[in-house]
Amino acid sequence: MFTALVVLFLSVLIVSFILDNLKNSKRPPGPVRYPIIGNLPQILAADKYVYKAYFKLAKIYGGIMSLKVGSQEMVILSTLDVMKELLDKDEVGGRMWTGVLVDRANGKNLGIAFSQGRHQGILKVFAQKKLREFGFGKRESMESIMSIELQEMMEGLRKVAKTNGGKHRMERFFQLSLLNVVWTMLAGKRYSHDDPRLHKLLKLNSMWFQSGNFGGGIVIAYPFLRFLFPNLLGYNLQKEANAKIYEFLTEMIAEHRSREGYDTDPQSFNDIFLAQIKADADKEWTAFTDEQFKVVCYDMFQAGFETTSNTMAFAILFMVLNQEVQAKIQKELDAFYPAGSVASMNDRDKIPYTSAAVHEVFRLGNILPFSDPRNTMEDVNFRGYFIPKDTPVAFNSFSIMRSEELWGDPENFRPERFLGPDGKLNEKAKMMHIGFGVGKRSCLGETLAQTTVFMAFTTLVRNFKFEPVPNKPLPTTEPVMGIILSPQPYDLIVKARD
Ligand code: HEM
Repeated sequence: MFTALVVLFLSVLIVSFILDNLKNSKRPPGPVRYPIIGNLPQILAADKYVYKAYFKLAKIYGGIMSLKVGSQEMVILSTLDVMKELLDKDEVGGRMWTGVLVDRANGKNLGIAFSQGRHQGILKVFAQKKLREFGFGKRESMESIMSIELQEMMEGLRKVAKTNGGKHRMERFFQLSLLNVVWTMLAGKRYSHDDPRLHKLLKLNSMWFQSGNFGGGIVIAYPFLRFLFPNLLGYNLQKEANAKIYEFLTEMIAEHRSREGYDTDPQSFNDIFLAQIKADADKEWTAFTDEQFKVVCYDMFQAGFETTSNTMAFAILFMVLNQEVQAKIQKELDAFYPAGSVASMNDRDKIPYTSAAVHEVFRLGNILPFSDPRNTMEDVNFRGYFIPKDTPVAFNSFSIMRSEELWGDPENFRPERFLGPDGKLNEKAKMMHIGFGVGKRSCLGETLAQTTVFMAFTTLVRNFKFEPVPNKPLPTTEPVMGIILSPQPYDLIVKARD
């Protein structure tokens, strides 16, 4: 009996192996798939970082390749031309919807970032338009919010510079301020840094990200495993984080609704969304509901501040490691800004070396090398390949940012690569938009992110010097793996320059 079962099991494996490898001859090229484990052996053998593994495999299988990540079918894009052409298509405008991302919205298809379908387009266009009316994306408003936060950051760094010889551990330094920037955009008022609500939100968000690190890639490869090992794979912690974040957002909604005139004289994005919910209350179908609103807020603050604060943590790390580049930037900035001043986006073209350095920060500190995959909404025929409906399509921007063909010395921090013979930014600078995606599903916050990072980097490097700790090994640039990459916490010496 036992022997018969083993023979049956092996036969099923062999048949599934043959079928899986022959099933779709028009599928983009990829390595041989094994039953149950798919391409995990080839991925794990290529590199421990998944985006580096895909980068290496793409050198063998090309700019469009298909992989089976455990049980999960996927198409991976690795060249700029393929990304631009395919991601711009409406048919590839969905979002992979599985595992933790489904749990995040209580198993429902809600919000802007991790959902797909009719409501997604409506909510994104609404958010883009209305946020702009309240200053998001408008240079002056964003700059005035950032200026206040930058004064706080400088205050903090001045204290650091005066204590313990300026020695400091860089870990989550930017988070509070940059969460505040996004929250101010949504709620229409700035929280003080002592406000417990700001700290609570930060704590809950860290809890969510922490829970994602437990299971890592295993949960993506085999989503059902999180139900079998809920503690080990962080599922229980994640449920707790989600429940608390929704509790926080429910209180926030009640607070906005309690203001008389929130619907007749809206003062913020949150007010105007709630006014739309009220206006649509009797409609048979609407994208504007409390449930949708909570997930939209969740999307915005989660996508909005870990990204910029981790990019800034990389930016300062690159200064610590590249003292000559830092000195060149400071030479340019000293001639332009008096000590203590805050930079403005309007100056970008007047300080080309610094602008090139910011591009280099986005290239080398690429915090979302392998962004959340798209999903095909219909069958897609592309360059002779067939990609069936409901296939996740991911773009690996790491392949662009670290391409030897494009950059020659991709591992070095060298702003000069973005400057033309006339000393101005060259065409390659435009390539950095790829870090924010392409087409209808591209990043909603790119302008805010560009403004935040440019202003924070320029202001801090003008006013402080960041040095390695003497007689200690230099900090590593190897990132901490997570949904969004961050540098490992590092020690540095901060010196005030005024
Ligand atoms: C360094 C900073 C940032 C980077 C590198 C970044 C990158 C990205 C990427 C790669 C995507 C996926 C694009 C695609 O599928 O084509 C994305 C989507 C998104 N980002 Fe950002 N982002 C940043 C900052 C922000 C900020 C500040 C906000 C808002 C406050 C934001 C809000 C969003 C939203 C809502 C989406 C989902 C858009 C959709 O699915 O239609 N991001 N971002």
